[in-house]
Amino acid sequence: MKKKILVTGGTGYIGSHTTVELIEEGFEPIIVDNLYNSEAVVVDRIQKITGVKPHLEVFDLCDREKLDRFIQKHNDISAVIHVAAYKAVGESVNKPLEYYRNNLLSLINLLEVMKRYGIPDLVFSSSCTVYGQPEKLPVTEDAPLQSATSPYGNTKQICESIIRDTTVSDKNIKAISLRYFNPIGAHPSALIGELPRGVPENLVPFLTQTGYGIREELKVFGNDYNTPDGSCIRDYLHVVDLAKAHVFAIKRLIEGKNKTNYEVFNLGTGKGVSVLEAIKSFERVSGIKLKYKIVGRRAGDIEKIWANPSYANKELGWKTLSSLDEAMKTAWDWEKMFRNNKL
Ligand code: UD1
Repeated sequence: MKKKILVTGGTGYIGSHTTVELIEEGFEPIIVDNLYNSEAVVVDRIQKITGVKPHLEVFDLCDREKLDRFIQKHNDISAVIHVAAYKAVGESVNKPLEYYRNNLLSLINLLEVMKRYGIPDLVFSSSCTVYGQPEKLPVTEDAPLQSATSPYGNTKQICESIIRDTTVSDKNIKAISLRYFNPIGAHPSALIGELPRGVPENLVPFLTQTGYGIREELKVFGNDYNTPDGSCIRDYLHVVDLAKAHVFAIKRLIEGKNKTNYEVFNLGTGKGVSVLEAIKSFERVSGIKLKYKIVGRRAGDIEKIWANPSYANKELGWKTLSSLDEAMKTAWDWEKMFRNNKL
């Protein structure tokens, strides 16, 4: 019998890639999504890739009654991967209550039904934003957390605390928080990828949209940072590598290989890449000379951060396999596929 895994946000960017990897590893993912930031047609594209169409139910996890009914109907769910959340840093500053309500309430509802219906295992999407600007690089999981610079970042910190406290109070609940660094790229089939609403806030969708001619030029936010070329440094990892980490985490929990009831892992490549290096990578893989200009720093940006992924490498048996150029090429292929209306 295939193990049934609830993937919240399974039609979104990270969730759809995770769903593909779960199917390919012999699990039966079942998706709950409110389609706030994604489209139902994604499940058809997942079917094109894997041959399996995952079951999708469209409702909001903040609706506790609907969630209860859903869990009663699917009473054989083994574990939950909770990816659904609002994630735009800038938007969160203008809409803090929406962010706190959505990101906290959906998690609380999920944990309550997990307790009530005896679902023991949770994998949670967290972010390297919880570290702020770390004193030591590369950053390890035991680095002190710093005050969040946005309501979005704060929701990730609070969610981690809620999960940790729940695992302390209820020994039947086990959880893993995955602290993502910067996921980029798309599935190599170019059938699923990132679909930002409106003007993208994140670097790589802005790069590919500028390359395609949808945006006039890329603005590089600052070249006066204390880094070799003056632009900010991040740890960009391929979304397929990131998706695979969720499968490792789920297996660890289901097989009882976790060391404590609450664990945290950094998911990154271990390599820092500057904004200007990311632009060069895009130019290499696309053959396009990108139009960009240097502008002032973006408020709230961290100068440099990259992961020490050793703990995830050792304990989860996971590591990134794709290079920056490989990931960038899939982002470009996806942009072209999507814009050429080939989907
Ligand atoms: C941000 C959040 C992170 C969140 C992620 C997903 C912070 C500090 N980080 O990551 O928690 O999980 O978004 O939404 O809040 N850049 C440009 N021009 C652009 C866009 C970006 O130069 O048009 C630069 C930024 O200054 C940064 C780098 O590119 O140095 C990456 O930016 P971005 O893709 O937005 O990711 P983060 O800010 O690292």
